[in-house]
Formats: sequence, structure tokens, C-alpha cells
Amino acid sequence: MILDGSLPKSIQAAAEALARGELLGMPTETVYGLAADADNDAAVAQIFASKGRPTNHPLIVHVADAESIKRYAREVPVFAQQLIDAFWPGPLTVILPRLPQAAKASTGGQDSVGLRCPAHPVAHALLLACQSLESPVWGVAAPSANKFGRVSPTTAQHVASEFGDGLLVLDGGACEVGIESTIVDCTRGAPVLLRPGAITRDDIERVCGMRALSREELPEHTPRASGTLLAHYAPSATVRLMNAKQIQTALEVLGMDAANIAIYTRARMLTPARNVVLRRMPDDAQEAGKELFAALRDFDTAKVKLIWVEWPPESADWEGVRDRLQRAAAAA
Ligand code: TXA
Ligand code: MG
Repeated sequence: MILDGSLPKSIQAAAEALARGELLGMPTETVYGLAADADNDAAVAQIFASKGRPTNHPLIVHVADAESIKRYAREVPVFAQQLIDAFWPGPLTVILPRLPQAAKASTGGQDSVGLRCPAHPVAHALLLACQSLESPVWGVAAPSANKFGRVSPTTAQHVASEFGDGLLVLDGGACEVGIESTIVDCTRGAPVLLRPGAITRDDIERVCGMRALSREELPEHTPRASGTLLAHYAPSATVRLMNAKQIQTALEVLGMDAANIAIYTRARMLTPARNVVLRRMPDDAQEAGKELFAALRDFDTAKVKLIWVEWPPESADWEGVRDRLQRAAAAA
């Protein structure tokens, strides 16, 4: 059932559902989450079961404010605090050393916890309502509300179509950011960019005054992050990444015979074929991120077999979009 997130009574009903140990589809500015009380291990177990997600892939815990960090983390390094001060509330998740008793199932028992304070007004109102309950819920565990490996949802309707009418979904409209939060591991003495997002590598380095490391630079392997598996975010159709010239040439070669293909490019493309879906990718990285997952879903709805995507620019602002497209293409 979809509830109107602009109504205070919907927010209250959603908070109470979480407190009872139920699951909830919740809006955030990045993507919709499949939420549960982060400290209720049985409720969290249902998230893993519904998503089909391996239990060793830890969940992000969402909090109402930076104050709540102390309920989950043992320690906040100086550079992590700088990131929190600069980007919370917002699309940034920080990985911090975990307090032993907190969010056990959510973190898969790992020594660390991922924390995020979302900026979406409905998410914020929900998290505040959770804190004000008679038995407060201090943290809300929420992975993206999609089946494991599939495209993340950016509307309440996407969530309902993925999990059916039995799930309570708080509708907060279409997500403003559209790709998942930037994840920075802050447990290693320097910021490590685990997942790129709207907050860029440049933003992180500017605020911390330190170089941001990449996962590949770490000496040994880090905890598993599902959004970081090579094949992820996959639509049903096969995604191929090419430059604009290759795509135009391929269309010319196929001519009228091109069929069941979607073309997603910044450059204008021409084809005489009728059965080709042409869609322009926004020139701005933030705008492209905002519509990326909805565009992939639209191509699936149009029942194309192939999605040919123009490779985005190499600049830092496009890193999040490049990352999601590479993973979508790797699932082929
Ligand atoms: O924007 C987002 O982050 C969305 C919204 C709902 O907040 N959530 C989201 O969750 O994308 P999910 O579960 O789809 O991706 C969370 C990522 C996973 O790759 C997970 O492994 C990683 O965060 N993660 C969470 N806790 C971690 C930890 N303690 N150490 C390393 N990675 C962690
Ligand atoms: Mg996900």
C-alpha cells in the first residue's frame, strides 16, 4: 500500500510500523530504501530475505542527525567529522567503527557500521518521528528497495512493482539525486571511496584536505559491498557502452533492420528504423544521475533487447554515473 508522505499521519503510521518490526518502503533523496528498525535483528532478517540479498552484505543505518552517531559508532576520526559537517544531511554514507551491541544483523556482525543522514524531507520527518516514539527507533536500516542485483527504485511505484501491494511504501515523489549515496570508508586512517555518487571524489578531497583512496589501493580485501560487485544495477535488456561514433555507425549499418534497441546518448542520433527507442542523456552529470535508473526501467518497459549507451565524460562529476553504467553493462 502506498501512503502519501506529505501527510503527518502517514509519517506517524510509517514510524509505528517500523517500531512493530515491519518493513517499509521509504523515500530518500538518492533512491528508495527497504527499511526496518536497525536494532531489531528479526526485522532486519526480513530485509535480507525479501531482497534475496546475501547476509554478509551489510546495510546502511539511517539516522535523523549527527547526534545519533554515538548510538552506533565507537569513534569518529577527524576527517570523518569534517565530511559529516560538510555533507549531512545529504547523499553521503560514512563507514565508522561499530559499537559492539548496535545494529548487529544490519551490519552482518562486521566491526564497522555505515551511517547516513538523508536530506529528503519525508525521510527526515520519518526519522524524527521514529525518535519520538514511546520506545524510540534510533536507526533505520535500509538498502535500496530492489531485488538483489536489479536497478534501484527512484519512485514509490517502482518499489510497489518490485515488492507488491503487501509492502507499506511512503511516497516522497521522484528522487532528486537518483543514484545511491557516495560511500566513504573512514576506518582506515584516510578516506577510501567505496562507491562514487553525487558527492564527488573532488568534494571529499577538498573537505578533508587528504587524497581519497580507491578500494583497489587497499592492501587487503575490504568488506563486501553489493553495490560494488561488478555486475549490479542491471536491467533485463543487455547494456553496451560505446562512444557516439560507434553507435551512429552501428545504426547506419543496421539501417531499417535495427529493432528492439534503445539508444541513450548525449549526442543526437539518426536512424530510419521505427523500432528503435531514442533517448537523450542529459548533458549535466547531476541531471543524468537523477534519471538514470528510471531510464533503464523505461527501456525494459519498452521491451528492448539491447541498450546502447554513450560512454559519459571522464570528469569527476560523472564518476557515479560511469560506475553504475559499467556495472549494468557487466551483468550482460
Ligand atoms: O543511497 C543509498 O545509500 C541508499 C538509500 C536507501 O540510502 N541505500 C543503499 O543501500 O544504496 P544498499 O544496501 O543498496 O547499498 C549499501 C552499500 C552496500 O554496498 C553495502 O555493502 C555497503 O553500503 N555497506 C554498508 N555498510 C558497510 C560497512 N560496514 N562496510 C562496508 N560497506 C558497507
Ligand atoms: Mg542497492
